Order: sequence, then structure tokens, then C-alpha cells
Amino acid sequence: MPSTSLSIPNHVAIIMDGNGRWAQQRGLPRIEGHRRGVETVRTVIKACRELGIPYITLYAFSVENWKRPKDEVGALMHLLEFFLKKELANLIKDKVRILTIGRIQDMPAGVRKQLDKAVEATAAFSDLTLVLALNYGARTEMIDAARAYAAAIAAGETKLDDTSWEKFSRYLYTADIPDPDLVIRTSGEMRISNFLLLQAAYAEFVFTPVLWPDFAKADLAAAVATYAKRERRFGKTSEQLKPAATS
Ligand code: IPE
Ligand code: IPE
Ligand code: MG
Repeated sequence: MPSTSLSIPNHVAIIMDGNGRWAQQRGLPRIEGHRRGVETVRTVIKACRELGIPYITLYAFSVENWKRPKDEVGALMHLLEFFLKKELANLIKDKVRILTIGRIQDMPAGVRKQLDKAVEATAAFSDLTLVLALNYGARTEMIDAARAYAAAIAAGETKLDDTSWEKFSRYLYTADIPDPDLVIRTSGEMRISNFLLLQAAYAEFVFTPVLWPDFAKADLAAAVATYAKRERRFGKTSEQLKPAATS
């Protein structure tokens, strides 16, 4: 369901960052920050429903995150599996559709099983779509898309000469997901970390120093208010965007 108000972004994508620092500041193990981060995920899903944001993507695990210590990776996978198991009934009750982007086939079997279940059980919903970016990297997405595109050309399903962004983008993980309008990164870092490089081509960016476990509905609302004040020109001049003056 598209957002009805122009000041409300149709798609918000979030780089959830700062769990480790949140825990370290309190003398707690990093995993405690991740546990609190899961609570924030619940809060943010609810806030999206209340604010009328129809699409939300959460960057939960990057292809680079496998390089972290083994026990942190294991704990993150466990948390994810547990979250899906525990939350599915609520997601169904709230009519939240679950989608995934990333190399899901390389996620642990237990996580995959919960993901398959969640995606299947929520496929018919359309009020709010929650996209989980898991084992996601924009560069691997590009490689996967290029491979699939080449295979389609070889199979005679499409022609190289007909290549357009519209056609090629059908081979990205996000084929059926609109581009993000607003990308938020928490924890004060100001980088994209291999997230939605192509889809965010014209997204507005909001960076907040708030660490992900502390991110609240008010912080999401503040980011949306900042977004509403931006002028999205898409290459045009400011004058072209103003309604024609009446004489
Ligand atoms: C984000 O928090 C969660 C994931 C990347 C999975 P971090 O774990 O990156 O937290 P910091 O950046 O170390 O504080
Ligand atoms: C980006 O956060 C990935 C996710 C939020 C899942 P990182 O904490 O991994 O990013 P870098 O390494 O600081 O750029
Ligand atoms: Mg980080």
C-alpha cells in the first residue's frame, strides 16, 4: 500500500548500528547490545505502522559481518532465529509481510527454516512490508544480478541490446521492492557499509548519533520530519519543482 502523504517516506531503510558500543559503555558483553537491539526492532516496526510508513528495510547482517569473532556471529544467528520464532504470531496478527534480501542460501539452516516460515505465512499481507537484509552486500547483489542477467540473455529470455535500468533492476534482490526514500544510520557513523548502493541512488540520508538500542519512536519521527523538509530534485532545478505561478 503506497504512503498517502508525500511527507511520509514510502520506504525507510535503516543501518542499525551501535549495539556493541551501547554494551561496552555499560561494561556489558557486546551480545547484550544485540539483545537490546532486537527490542528496538520491535519498537520500530510498531512505530512504522503508527506513522504510516509502508516499507521498512533493516540491515541486520552484512556479508562482511562474518569476519566478526565466531561467538558473536553465532550469538547473532541465534538471536535472529529466536526473534523470528517468537515474533511470527505478532507479525501475522499485525499483518506485516516479511521479505528478505541477501544471500539467504548461505545462512544457517535453523535461521533459513524460520525465514521460510515467516515469508510464507505473511505473503498475503500488504499494509506494512518488513525487508530483512541478511548476509547482504550491495556488491554481491550486483554480482548475483549480473550472473542472472547473463544467464537470461544466454537462454534467449532477454536481449543485451534491450538493456535498461528498468529491465536490469528486475535481477536485483529488490526486484519487487520500491527504492528507499530515506536511509537512516544510527550510532554517528557516516558511511553506507555496502548497503543498497544502487537502490539508494536518490534516497535522502539521515545520520543520528543515537545508538541502535536507544533508538526510539521519537527518533524515527524526527528523521521523518527531517526528510519532509528536504527538497528532492532528481536532477532538476528547484524552480522546476515549484507549481507554475498563476498570473
Ligand atoms: C550493529 O551494531 C549490529 C550489526 C552489525 C549486526 P554493531 O555490532 O556494529 O555495533 P558497534 O558498531 O560495534 O557499536
Ligand atoms: C553495518 O554495520 C552492517 C549492519 C548494520 C548489519 P557495521 O558495524 O558492520 O559497519 P562498519 O563495519 O562499521 O562499516
Ligand atoms: Mg557497527
